Amino acid sequence: MATAPFPDGFLWGAATAAYQVEGAVHEDGRGPSIWDTFSHTPGRTLNGDTGDVACGHYGRLDEDLDLIGALGLGAYRFSVAWPRVQPDGKGPANQAGLDFYRRLVDGLRSRGVVPVATLYHWDLPQALEDQGGWLARGTAQRFADYSAVVAGALGDDVGMYITLNEPWCSGWLGYGTGAHAPGTRGVASGVAASHHLLLAHGAAVEALRATTRSPVGITLNLNHYTPATDHELDLRAARVADAVLNRFYLDPVLRASYPEDLVQEVGRAGGSFEVVRPGDLEAISRPVDFLGVNFYSTAVVADMGREDEARAAGYLVGPVGPGETNASFGVRGVGRQGMEHLSTGWEVDPAGLTEILVRLHREYPRLPLYVTENGAAQHDYRGPDGAVHDPGRIAYLARHIAAVHDALKAGVDVGGYFVWSLMDNFEWALGYSVRFGLTWVDYPTGERVPKDSYHWYRRVARSNGLPPED
Ligand code: FCB
Repeated sequence: MATAPFPDGFLWGAATAAYQVEGAVHEDGRGPSIWDTFSHTPGRTLNGDTGDVACGHYGRLDEDLDLIGALGLGAYRFSVAWPRVQPDGKGPANQAGLDFYRRLVDGLRSRGVVPVATLYHWDLPQALEDQGGWLARGTAQRFADYSAVVAGALGDDVGMYITLNEPWCSGWLGYGTGAHAPGTRGVASGVAASHHLLLAHGAAVEALRATTRSPVGITLNLNHYTPATDHELDLRAARVADAVLNRFYLDPVLRASYPEDLVQEVGRAGGSFEVVRPGDLEAISRPVDFLGVNFYSTAVVADMGREDEARAAGYLVGPVGPGETNASFGVRGVGRQGMEHLSTGWEVDPAGLTEILVRLHREYPRLPLYVTENGAAQHDYRGPDGAVHDPGRIAYLARHIAAVHDALKAGVDVGGYFVWSLMDNFEWALGYSVRFGLTWVDYPTGERVPKDSYHWYRRVARSNGLPPED
């Protein structure tokens, strides 16, 4: 019996993404992606780590399907690698690539697990990048064509389609700050890439509607921003951060507009929304069936010029947390004393998840929500007993699941929750230095070792809520 039962049919899931787990980058006709190029460029990823081998999921599909099946999940979220399906980003499908995802989908279905497919989790075919990548408007139509190919092959057997994962990351980190592939920098390019990604989303929604009856949505990374003090500049920093990270993506998709304050801030930072053409916002805002929310951390922000004041007010001033410090917009992320941190340095505060879900329910009503990622990077190690004891991850997940329950009690429509991640994997620019998995991956051998959190999460899924404390 769960202490706080969830609604019947609530989907308990776990998530991965193609480049982070598959490896086998040269197999069965897969073409190169921008992450292959980026990770092989010296200095771009920690220790020069790449996804060449990753978890070897491509070659261990059956074993991993059993791992998912034994976890007793309702759903499994994976991403389809565009360069496996269309090695150079356009034209006829590479059948071997589609076959791999067909085997995955069938294997999930036969284990009673709903397949949830993300169509773009950042691995743009390099051939398209060579023609401008997300700075080129035409990439949006390429993405719609590719989406139709995938849905044509997998159809309604995929239970939910997610067009994009976190366009802030692929647009802004990829083309604005350059921290992610392809490593381009500039406010103007960050804005153009984000807009074209959103256009791609809209075009894919249309293409998917013509091909499948399964629900279609988009996943955004959203943060709850608190100003460090009530000084007007810190209040402004929190508003700007919200505009740049949250509303930049929420509003065009759900309200057919870019927020006015965002347009002004972008102008002040030397960029513009000149790439937007008549009709674009209508195309971007084609109705979706759900919104996916990825949440890891909350953020306190200050004005960049007020770091001394933030320090004097007792904050830790450094690069803490994902996405808060945004030099182009004068926003500085600050840390609170006495908070727990993930091994990525991100501050733990589950209340922010409830806040985000309640806010979405209030400001963008009648939209079913799913937490499509939430998880904890911990300093895991394999003990002398061969097991991985990860009480910190269990505590993090339990607190965030309770935060989702709080949102449900407040009347928010949340249909599911997905742990990031099923297994340890390639964490982008941080390489293999951090572990988010419910399952330990021994990288030299590929061995999988379910952690304590895996066994705990199985009980959550089975009892449809948090199990009573042992
Ligand atoms: C998210 C990504 C996911 C993973 C987690 C930790 O931003 O979507 O691929 O890297 O962060």
